[in-house]
Amino acid sequence: MLDIKVTKTANPKAKPEGPLGFGKVFTDHMFLMDYTEGIGWHDARIEPFHDLTLSPACMTFHYGQTMFEGMKAYRGADGECWLFRPDMNAKRTNNTNRRLCIPQLPEEDFVQAVRALVSLERDWIPTAPGTSLYVRPFIIAADPFLGVRPSETYIFCVILSPSGAYYASGLEPVGIWIEDDYVRAVRGGMGFAKTGGNYACSLAAQVKAHDGGYSQVLWLDGVERRYIEEVGAMNIFFKIDGTVVTPMLNGSILPGITRDSTLTLCRAWGIPTEERRISVDELIEAQRAGKLEEVFGTGTAAVISPVGKLRYKDEVFTIGDGSIGPLSQKLYDTVTGIQLGSLPDPCGWRVRV
Ligand code: PLP
Ligand code: COI
Repeated sequence: MLDIKVTKTANPKAKPEGPLGFGKVFTDHMFLMDYTEGIGWHDARIEPFHDLTLSPACMTFHYGQTMFEGMKAYRGADGECWLFRPDMNAKRTNNTNRRLCIPQLPEEDFVQAVRALVSLERDWIPTAPGTSLYVRPFIIAADPFLGVRPSETYIFCVILSPSGAYYASGLEPVGIWIEDDYVRAVRGGMGFAKTGGNYACSLAAQVKAHDGGYSQVLWLDGVERRYIEEVGAMNIFFKIDGTVVTPMLNGSILPGITRDSTLTLCRAWGIPTEERRISVDELIEAQRAGKLEEVFGTGTAAVISPVGKLRYKDEVFTIGDGSIGPLSQKLYDTVTGIQLGSLPDPCGWRVRV
């Protein structure tokens, strides 16, 4: 158990009014904990939200030894506050850390830190439909040193951001650009890890997609540029001729928690599911044959995000009639219902704050 020292702000901010957007507003406090080689994690504390002061030689700036997580806290109609499967974020943190040579963080300490901060900031959890308190835990290498090696000191920090929908369009179907030039990750690399470099690497293609009028990029595999991987901030699902298909976890895509929850729900509903390699050619063939029924992305920030349009090599494919499909809608309603405490939680995914 962490012994968390709490220093409260003397100047609480006014809560935002009106549309929140995503990731723009931050709450009054943050969680911090330091790591020093030979000592371990120490000095767990909650402090007023403030800027970090770091040496310009801080290793994280130069070589990107860093990780982050993304989760949400929800407030139901009855006022109860919930987290969704925080143990999964804690486990994924350590999988990322292993790949990045960042020290392991005990899972129970990760969850305790998030719960303590969210509990203190519970009045910041927005309640308008589609809103929640986005939780961003992250670790940075802290040594002031210009050589390339794992840092000997780290900072673990958690910040909170009351947020609305990740896409400005909300639950409206998004347009996705299938990228056939840039790649995001290769097997043996760090695609499965939640680390800044994967997102830095995605920006050039994302700008290209945005300039073309698309919300996000759908990545193909880094070797053949043939097999579908995932979207910029979501895993991807296809409903083809009654079967729900999603790329298998192959080391180069992020093992999404919403992906896992979606597969569990589909299986419980008796829908056939397949985790396997799926090529862009197979997808287009299914579309041309009228068998591609629905496409949707899954992610903490994006929840269940219907895809209305796919672009590949100058061809544009409209999925169904371009509106949200019945399975995407049912998944969205069920996942958010469990998260908000308004539906039963047979798998025990909700954790009370
Ligand atoms: N893939 C990428 C690249 C992501 O950034 C995210 C978001 O976290 C996901 C998939 C979805 O993961 P999760 O459902 O755990 O949020
Ligand atoms: C999340 O869904 O939590 C993410 O981390 C996506 C993020 C890149 C905005």
